[in-house]
Amino acid sequence: PKQRLLIKGGRVVNDDQSVEADVYVEEGVVQEVGPNLNPKPPSGLTVLDATNKLVIPGGIDTHTHFQFPFMGTTSKDDFYTGTKAAVAGGTTMIIDFAIPQKGCSLIEAFNKWKGWADPKVCCDYALHVAVTWWSDKVKEEMKSLVQDKGVNSFKMFMAYKDLYMLSDDELYGALSCCKELGTIAQVHAENGELIAQNTKKLLAMGITGPEGHALSHNEDVEAEATHRAITIANTINCPLYVVHVMSKSSARMITNARNEGKVVYGEPIAAGLGTDGTNYWNEDWAHAAAHVMSPPLSPDPSTPDFLMNLLANDDLSVVGTDNCTFDTCQKALGKDDFTKIPNGLNGVEDRMSVVWEKGVYSGKMDENRFVAVTSTNAAKIFNLYPKKGRIAVGSDADIVIWDPEATRYVGEVVSFHPAPLQEKYTSIHLCSNKPLGRDYGVFSTELCVNYLQVIYLTPTVVYISRDP
Ligand code: URP
Ligand code: ZN
Ligand code: ZN
Ligand code: ZN
Repeated sequence: PKQRLLIKGGRVVNDDQSVEADVYVEEGVVQEVGPNLNPKPPSGLTVLDATNKLVIPGGIDTHTHFQFPFMGTTSKDDFYTGTKAAVAGGTTMIIDFAIPQKGCSLIEAFNKWKGWADPKVCCDYALHVAVTWWSDKVKEEMKSLVQDKGVNSFKMFMAYKDLYMLSDDELYGALSCCKELGTIAQVHAENGELIAQNTKKLLAMGITGPEGHALSHNEDVEAEATHRAITIANTINCPLYVVHVMSKSSARMITNARNEGKVVYGEPIAAGLGTDGTNYWNEDWAHAAAHVMSPPLSPDPSTPDFLMNLLANDDLSVVGTDNCTFDTCQKALGKDDFTKIPNGLNGVEDRMSVVWEKGVYSGKMDENRFVAVTSTNAAKIFNLYPKKGRIAVGSDADIVIWDPEATRYVGEVVSFHPAPLQEKYTSIHLCSNKPLGRDYGVFSTELCVNYLQVIYLTPTVVYISRDP
């Protein structure tokens, strides 16, 4: 029998409008949106009551690193726990990064990450691919990834010297190639040379704790690289996407460029909107180390509000998380030297709630902008729209029923889609964002507000976003 679902009595919220309407779904695809739907036959129909609730497109987290081999260990959330946490928080699609070592094949990296994800994922996913070195072979591989694998975005690092960092010359080559292929060029914007110099100085002074991470990756280091990336991209006329925008200075660079008509997108992350870098000075080492990521959270406590205002104004475009979790034991690799603390924190479970609480509940943005920055803009930028990021006839039924009045209710997780999600059926997830007992990261309990009622997901796919 066909999977048939009717969501009754809610307010359907897209990025451009809200309407009181029912939503009728068959086989994971939206068939009808309108008042008082009465699909026939009534038998075999699952009906969900969404009275006084918002019916929104499932969230898209543009930035995760699940089971990422990095800095001498592997990030703790794998493609099972990570995507399960995503679903628990109202996110129905994540985009992770396949990251080759310098000199290694991008296609092999893509296949490796896909091999890790496919048997485990509980939600839709896609992969960005990182360009960590440069040659004619890399260029050929980028072309093949776009044409044969549907890859739509490449990330270039301006930091992690000797590991992933590209020189300006290489960055120019990679951005030119993105421009040629019509893909989105993403940059990790930090000046890796300056970080190395700052680090040397701090260690020589005997500063070895997590605060050394914040001091070595100061705001100027991010702002300089952001400006340089914008300048290089503009020279080539290549659209640019700045991942994990953490500081006021970097956000201003992006705002200025957009005001000048340049095509630049900025991605703040949940942690950067929800908390700040004063945590690096916490006297509890584990607490401070849990916040270590690059670029660091801003030590200025007014930055989260500043970034949220820019997000509300369309100066910044989409919210990711950079979910790249390490538990205290893994963080302790850097107990005596901050440069060895694995970089990364959590957020995939919390992102939607953080934006709702700090963005909508605070009065900075309306429900339509909320949908834009948590889902629709990501779908548009990464070529998934309107299958993803919209509730409309023909769109994938990745739907979240959101309770705008919920406060600190904590419910039970009723069911998750079992991994692997290869079975060709859709299912209903009754979820709460009660913390999943993931005992690491910066959002443990403080920001867990349950707005999420029900989540409905289509079968998982690696999104082939362009036709080969
Ligand atoms: O600290 C971070 N951001 N870790 C993940 C890797 C990256 O640079 O995105
Ligand atoms: Zn990065
Ligand atoms: Zn990242
Ligand atoms: Zn499912």
